[in-house]
Amino acid sequence: MEKGFKKYIPFEQIRMEKREWPDNTITKAPIWCSVDLRDGNQALVTPMNMEQKLEFFHALVDMGFKEIEIGFPSASETEYEICRELIEGGHIPDDVTIQVLVQAREHLIRKTFEAVKGAKNVIVHFYNSTSVLQRKVVFKKDMDGIIDIAVEGAKLIRELIDSYEGDTNFRLEYSPESFSGTEVDNSVRICEAVMDVIKPTKEDPIILNLPNTVEMCTPNTYADQIEYFIKHLKNRESAIISVHPHNDRGTGVACAELALLAGAERIEGTLFGNGERTGNLDIVTVGLNMYTQCVDPKLDFSNLPKYKEIYERCTQMKIGERQPYVGDLVFTAFSGSHQDAIKKGFDYVKAANSDKWEIPYLPIDPADVGRQYEAIVRYNSQSGKGGAAFIMENVFGYELPKAMHPEFGALAKAESDRLGKELSPSDLMDVFNKNYIDIPQKIWLVKHVVNNIGENEATFKGTVHLVKEDRDIEIYGEGNGPIDALFNALKEVGIKGFEIQSYKEHSVSQGSDSKAVCYMQVRNPNGKTVFGVGISHGIFKASARSLFCAINRSDSEIRINGELI
Ligand code: KIV
Ligand code: ZN
Repeated sequence: MEKGFKKYIPFEQIRMEKREWPDNTITKAPIWCSVDLRDGNQALVTPMNMEQKLEFFHALVDMGFKEIEIGFPSASETEYEICRELIEGGHIPDDVTIQVLVQAREHLIRKTFEAVKGAKNVIVHFYNSTSVLQRKVVFKKDMDGIIDIAVEGAKLIRELIDSYEGDTNFRLEYSPESFSGTEVDNSVRICEAVMDVIKPTKEDPIILNLPNTVEMCTPNTYADQIEYFIKHLKNRESAIISVHPHNDRGTGVACAELALLAGAERIEGTLFGNGERTGNLDIVTVGLNMYTQCVDPKLDFSNLPKYKEIYERCTQMKIGERQPYVGDLVFTAFSGSHQDAIKKGFDYVKAANSDKWEIPYLPIDPADVGRQYEAIVRYNSQSGKGGAAFIMENVFGYELPKAMHPEFGALAKAESDRLGKELSPSDLMDVFNKNYIDIPQKIWLVKHVVNNIGENEATFKGTVHLVKEDRDIEIYGEGNGPIDALFNALKEVGIKGFEIQSYKEHSVSQGSDSKAVCYMQVRNPNGKTVFGVGISHGIFKASARSLFCAINRSDSEIRINGELI
């Protein structure tokens, strides 16, 4: 492999006196054209059958596409039949234009016109390849020879439209295929020659589609080519400038966006970037990039999981877990600091009562593309205390006090390390239950009576069970509230040295049932802090349980009347 890279020929930069596109901003959606049913379908191991193509076509219509390239009807009987079914089966809404692709070759053009008979709106998209490389190795023709092919195709198409009997509203699109590998002056020449034949007007413009058939240069160079082309094209107002990026260098989206800055008005691409080799431009990403900049993309992405399912079923392709906006993991934070920041972002937006989206690490609201908040934070051994608390709160409604996050986070991390896997929300709930609810007990409260005698005075009378000795003992205490009275009752029988440090309670609903949850932070006689949790229908019972939980979880000795229990 030594010096293997030396065999490649670097892409030649285009000379621009002054380029304007870097100063522009995308402020409105382009005209979108889906080429899923043609360019995307052409690139599948098993191309879509009639049923799948029809389902996919309807999904594209539902998303709001008004221009859809349905195939290459002159290429095969199947493609021809699908075109006829779409037309005869009444699948095409009046405001949707179907587009059909054809090479600039006579018999194919004639067959294409037969295929679209009876359709209301049709774009006939014809093309021939123009690049330096294709001219040299495939066609063995000079540029004039290549222009002749396009002009002959254009003449026949003009003739067929002029003599067409029927109500079809035709529009035309010409692509100098492999535009980005063609000298831009030659691209201008060939498109002008086609325009001389077609005679487009401002009211009836031709679509000039400038494909990045094979992506070979950085997106800024593609943008230069587009800006140069637009500035040098005669009769520019009679053309709609369209782009059709592929993704060989992984920058199809960037090429499309910079091309829009350079003046492109229309984009051809596919859902999720399906297509030949590394695919076509991913329309979902470009559209949602716009959406996050407060620009209406004029396509409906509000139920991406549905379109993902249709796409994966019909194409038998898989969408990667990190695919922008739609991948399974793109709204998930595993890292502790990210989880913490996301939680703070949600808290901030809620407290500020803001209608703006200002959540760190989440460029888009998952709900806007049909995703749930539940999956945002997932817990593995990389996660932090904030993540475990976020899941407990957002999935189960337990608002763990902030001081408890490190303790619970450490328990969750230890469990995740022990199992060597991510913890699901229900695994986290198990950690919570195992450590705070279903714990081994040395002592527990059997029954009690509390009397509030005056504003700041209460008595506590109860029975506690000593597990080791399997016997009950009576306790009694007085205090300036029920918990203080209980605390004093325990002191009376010798449970000393504990100190309540903080206390939090809230209600949690489980179905139609609502319960109180108490979290009690207690310092034990060894000076260590431990949390206890109690859950019950009554607030006092929940707080008493949280105190017993903390005592039972404490690693210090507990003695009653001097006896170790
Ligand atoms: O990528 C390409 O150049 C094409 C053309 C046929 C438009 O798909
Ligand atoms: Zn293509």
